[in-house]
Amino acid sequence: MAKCLLCDAAIEPFISFGKMPIANGFLHPKQFASEYFFELKVGVCEACGMVQLTERVDPEQLFHDNYAYFSSISTRMAAHFEQFAADVKSRYLVDEDPLVVEIGSNDGILLRHFAHAGVRHLGVEPSANVGEVARADGINTLCEFFDASVADNVVAEHGQADVVLATNVMCHIPDLHGVLEAVRILLKPGGVMIFEDPYLGDIVERTSYDQIYDEHFFYFSLSSVQQLLGRHGFELVDAEPQPVHGGSMRYTFAAQAERTVDDRVPRRLGEEQERGLARVETFEAFRAQVEQSRDALHALLAGVVEEGARVVGYGATSKSTTVTNYCGITPEMVEFVSDTTPAKQGMFTPGVHLPVRPYEEFVADYPDYALLFAWNHGDEILAKETAFREQGGKWIVYVPEVKVL
Ligand code: SAH
Ligand code: TYD
Repeated sequence: MAKCLLCDAAIEPFISFGKMPIANGFLHPKQFASEYFFELKVGVCEACGMVQLTERVDPEQLFHDNYAYFSSISTRMAAHFEQFAADVKSRYLVDEDPLVVEIGSNDGILLRHFAHAGVRHLGVEPSANVGEVARADGINTLCEFFDASVADNVVAEHGQADVVLATNVMCHIPDLHGVLEAVRILLKPGGVMIFEDPYLGDIVERTSYDQIYDEHFFYFSLSSVQQLLGRHGFELVDAEPQPVHGGSMRYTFAAQAERTVDDRVPRRLGEEQERGLARVETFEAFRAQVEQSRDALHALLAGVVEEGARVVGYGATSKSTTVTNYCGITPEMVEFVSDTTPAKQGMFTPGVHLPVRPYEEFVADYPDYALLFAWNHGDEILAKETAFREQGGKWIVYVPEVKVL
């Protein structure tokens, strides 16, 4: 039986999506035969309530010099991070000449607001290609996986950090104990770490099962995060929901008893308990919803294709790897996936091998239906795609429920 990576207790598995390829592993036909697969299965720890994958993929297979996700591709996320940087500056950069360190800084979408304002900063980003984009923009970036030895080196060279930031990366790292030990080395007395990740409560409530894929090793709740932090002498001092990525939570923590705990923390912990966010029955009900969603999407697509309609995917997201493989969405159903990321264009999606084509091909010959894989950017996308609708195009969505818009 699988054991919890954080507390070693037994994990109760509640859903398996079957064999899955690497979610961001876009590939060329000559690589099809050697494609890597693993079992994508999720369980909940009976002791600490941490929801997690039961099998881990080697991080070097996921994050490398050809990483496909460039954060700055979304203007909505860029605006979100600009606001976040402004908040951090006003609330936490109060000492003279502060240092901000970011884990998983990608192309600099967040750190640029500190770099361009002359704030001392450092990004730790193992995927060389995205880190290079940040460096070219004047953002100090180390090409490393964040751990205690990196923290030691940073402190020796720059001193301790006032603030450590990490967005959409903590849930990627199986060795969270190692990360928190490194944060203990790195953080100044009185300093805070703030991290943001998709929130388990939203995943369950919206049946957004496509948040489940290899890179997302953990699915956090306040309760599981609080228990983890407690083991390292830290304390959750705030938790603020965020509308991005289909529902995220921004967690702020500090050394125990150093800061006042916001009222939101106990209130939300109580809400989680009422909702049963650590109970196996909650996740069994979630599994039933996921299976229903899968069957409804497959039936809808098969129906419109049977009628001779053309369907194109919109956004070659990592999330869509789970959806397409789990629901059996093949090239016979979806002609291609439109995506604005140059590194993905001309490649094929993992597992089911849908071709990824430039966005211009979507506009040049609108399909009858666009399957909205990038639903988390739905507001931004629907607002700019009015011409598609005006010409009779329809959207197929599946979160929170399968329907045609
Ligand atoms: N922070 C950005 C990027 C999220 S994608 C955003 O919110 O949009 C996750 C990023 O974390 C990737 O760029 C990946 O290369 C990086 N990453 C993965 N494991 C890491 C680790 N152990 N230490 C530091 N960065 C890591
Ligand atoms: P995203 O949903 O942010 O991430 P993930 O890979 O974590 O699931 O990815 C959005 C993808 O959609 C990205 O490849 C860029 C693409 N995209 C478009 O093609 N057009 C758009 O207007 C937007 C917002 C994204």
